[in-house]
Amino acid sequence: MSKKPLILGIETSCDETAASLITENEQGIPVVLSNIVSSQIEVHKEFGGVVPELAARSHVEKIDWIVEKAINESGKKIKEIDAVASTAGPGLIVCLSVGLSFGKAFALALDKPFIAVNHLEGHALSPKLNSGLNYPYLLLLISGGHSQFLNVQGLGKYKRLGTTIDDALGEAFDKTAKLLGIEFPGGPQIEIIAKKGDPNKYDLPKPIYNKGGCNLSFAGLKTAILKITKNIKTNQEKFDLAASFQRTVEKILYKKTKIAFREFEKENKSKEKIFVVAGGVAANKKIRSMLINLCNEENYKSIFPPIELCGDNAAMIALVGLEKFKLKEFNNLDHPAKPRWPLDEDAAFLKGAGVKL
Ligand code: KG4
Ligand code: ZN
Repeated sequence: MSKKPLILGIETSCDETAASLITENEQGIPVVLSNIVSSQIEVHKEFGGVVPELAARSHVEKIDWIVEKAINESGKKIKEIDAVASTAGPGLIVCLSVGLSFGKAFALALDKPFIAVNHLEGHALSPKLNSGLNYPYLLLLISGGHSQFLNVQGLGKYKRLGTTIDDALGEAFDKTAKLLGIEFPGGPQIEIIAKKGDPNKYDLPKPIYNKGGCNLSFAGLKTAILKITKNIKTNQEKFDLAASFQRTVEKILYKKTKIAFREFEKENKSKEKIFVVAGGVAANKKIRSMLINLCNEENYKSIFPPIELCGDNAAMIALVGLEKFKLKEFNNLDHPAKPRWPLDEDAAFLKGAGVKL
């Protein structure tokens, strides 16, 4: 029996300090041996958002014991690690630099390969941590910084079909929460209070709903909410607005996903129809069930990461490391931190995000 690779993954791109050890079984299925995530909610709460310098300082304070904990919990010894994979972007540069430098130094000390990982590729592959996943698939990536439909052809092979032309969906959830006076990080709270409200109370705009293919836009929604909040007096009105926001987002995603299905099918004739949803907002249970219903209607297989692996974590980074390790795709120790690092490099530099309206 050959030794299976053991990969240490490190993630510090924003406000989570995380480390994980993963390997794979005889069938080549990834096995998560440890997955430690330390959130910085308390550090940033009083500022209502992530303060980059404070986030970086907190990563520096925690990174060594988080990695130590991940190694201890895995039941493996340091010398058994075959490669170190760190997030190199996209993200806050002062934060990325912490995990990146730590990972490089660790790899150097162990005399093992170093692998620079794209955080978005981590989200894109995260469903593989609990289910089989074959290429190609249509990916909806909905996080705090990104909202995109991607045709995923293989590891590192991404074609963007649609993107947000302004705010990311997670950002829209967070901004709406802030306007409703909900403490940071408010996104997940919107889902909770929406359950107590009437989703039909407020008629909110659905920007570029009838144009722009499967591109997305959420900034107009935030502006409309800002106007309404000025006249809101009761908690019930707050719940109604949260519910109306949640419902509007579901309607937008339903319509745009259907368009993305058609575009994906054009490019992948007679292939199995697989739809993967990843990123922090994929934890939203109402969005999940709406998209699962849509997949049932459209004969798509739907795949979501487990809720606890939707947000930022290092298991998904170690997973990309594992895939790249098997292909011997290693990086030099001078690999830079990249604040911007699109999955589809060609699409990203088109004017106006390449969106024709
Ligand atoms: O993927 P992620 O952890 O970090 C980034 O890479 O951005 O995503 C974080 C985003 C935040 O905007 C957060 O409010 C949102 O995901 N989020 C949610 C839920 N849980 C997290 N949005 C809506 N409903 C949720 N249950
Ligand atoms: Zn993320």
